[in-house]
Amino acid sequence: MLKVDNISASYGKVRAITDVSLEVREGEVVALLGVNGAGKSTTLKTISGLLRTQDGSIHFQDERIDRLSPEKIARRRIVHVPEGRRLFPGLTVRENLIMGTSNHKVSKVDLNHRLDYVLEIFPDLKPLYSQLSWSLSGGQQQMVAIGRGLMADPVILMLDEPSLGLAPVIVKQVFKTIRDINARGVTVLLVEQNAHLSLQVAHRAYLIETGRIVREDDADTLLHDENLQKEMLGAGF
Ligand SMILES: Nc1ncnc2c1ncn2[C@@H]1O[C@H](COP(=O)(O)OP(=O)(O)O)[C@@H](O)[C@H]1O
Ligand SMILES: [Mg+2]
Repeated sequence: MLKVDNISASYGKVRAITDVSLEVREGEVVALLGVNGAGKSTTLKTISGLLRTQDGSIHFQDERIDRLSPEKIARRRIVHVPEGRRLFPGLTVRENLIMGTSNHKVSKVDLNHRLDYVLEIFPDLKPLYSQLSWSLSGGQQQMVAIGRGLMADPVILMLDEPSLGLAPVIVKQVFKTIRDINARGVTVLLVEQNAHLSLQVAHRAYLIETGRIVREDDADTLLHDENLQKEMLGAGF
């Protein structure tokens, strides 16, 4: 469904990722794991078109997308939930959710269906619906950020460090939600430092180190790999 082949990307003269290849198949949760600065966010930014690749290619459903604008890529329903939530603090929860449809033409009936769907997945948002987003806790803000992504009716949902900075109980909820969303038919590309929990929801995972993919394997295999656990200590194991 999504195929990234040998892409590289830089910020000015600084190379951030080199020769990255990965594949996400329909129905999967695929995790891209690595420590801070490894190149995870950069990889997502190249897929969503926010950053140009220098070589290689990206295909989505057999169409080459790495030269399309971010708006066109979003219209393919490749949805990127960025690191750090990035809500509009002065807008209500409802208004923030509706922002998720800004790249799409959505009828009023559809809009209401989608809002209902998000509230079904995140019932805790119901009582907060008319509150301004700045007044929410980190966990609630993350739910709104993911909910806003769901409003775009994603074919593939790319989540950048959804658990970062959240209390352990909330982190568990976030991972449970990822499983729920996937069970409802959304393919997920999950970027995380929390390897242990990610491998419990993912089918497969890639490890990225200093801008290069160093390993790809089934989540179960990685979860039970003691060497890997030692290597990634301090990164969620
Ligand atoms: N806007 C930027 N300008 C310059 N360098 C950046 C920028 N964003 C990221 N980098 C660098 O690119 C590399 C990869 O960063 P990033 O993809 O954000 O890593 P991760 O998401 O895995 O923490 C790091 O060396 C980081 O310092
Ligand atoms: Mg990042």
